[in-house]
Amino acid sequence: MAETAVDISSARAAQAVGHPLRVIAVASGKGGVGKTNVAANLAVALGRQGRRVCVLDADLGLANLDVVLGLAPRLNLLHVLRGERRLSEIIVDGPAGVQVIPAASGFEELTALGAAERIRLLDEVDALDLGLDVLVIDTAAGISGNVLYFTAAAAEALIVITPEPTALTDAYALMKVLATRYGRREFLVAVNMASGAADAEAAFARLARVAERFLAVRVEYQGYVPWDDAVPRAVRHQVPVVLAAPSAPASLAFAQLAQRVGGRPVAGPNGGLQFFFRRLLGEGGR
Ligand SMILES: Nc1ncnc2c1ncn2[C@@H]1O[C@H](COP(=O)(O)OP(=O)(O)O)[C@@H](O)[C@H]1O
Ligand SMILES: [Mg+2]
Repeated sequence: MAETAVDISSARAAQAVGHPLRVIAVASGKGGVGKTNVAANLAVALGRQGRRVCVLDADLGLANLDVVLGLAPRLNLLHVLRGERRLSEIIVDGPAGVQVIPAASGFEELTALGAAERIRLLDEVDALDLGLDVLVIDTAAGISGNVLYFTAAAAEALIVITPEPTALTDAYALMKVLATRYGRREFLVAVNMASGAADAEAAFARLARVAERFLAVRVEYQGYVPWDDAVPRAVRHQVPVVLAAPSAPASLAFAQLAQRVGGRPVAGPNGGLQFFFRRLLGEGGR
């Protein structure tokens, strides 16, 4: 059934507009390392830097991106899959012009999507023209199918670690699957909740050493975000910290991370959102 959905690519994928879209999946292996906060603040910081940004909440079990962004969407991708709503109707406007696609539970396993649902979703994506510069994807923890599909379909994978040994081993496990099973050769890494630059760089170096040696991948450091109680405070107020406390150390670090990540040349083929979704549903059908 998957094949039929993927076959649609021929005619329309060829037309997929050439607007250069950067697609970044934020992933980690371990939960609680700050993926959602990184995704939300990166998106808002990029938005404030003038980029047109959309965030896709792909943590389908524990969707909480909307909470961090202060949104309460009533509709999600499930409504689109059921044919009840247009994709354009479920997208919500977040802070700094960031648009949010709530995925939510029910859209649990991409592999469980039938051909009709895939075609409907792809048609909806084709009909959408957000003129995006960046799509940021907030993924779930672990190495479940969905995490792998979303991350594999994204041209860039930003792995978030903390200096804890468990965060490093879990990140390594995720990178290993993405490298061996999906052929990913390059990873971006950000260290969250570090006590300072030296702490972050040491954690990055430990991960990079084993990944480069045993997986033969390129690992590129993108910076760190210090542990900062402005972050949990902002979460409690449901405002991303870059807006709630713009001069807090974590906010300055998120802005810098956005400059760094956003300043890289756009990786991968530039087929826009349409291309990403085709690739996603293709991978999901394996
Ligand atoms: N830099 C930071 N400093 C302090 N607390 C943080 C930081 N980043 C995230 N947190 C806190 O860690 C918890 C987990 O963050 P979250 O973004 O939900 O992680 P994940 O999405 O990886 O599960 C949240 O309570 C958040 O407030
Ligand atoms: Mg999360």
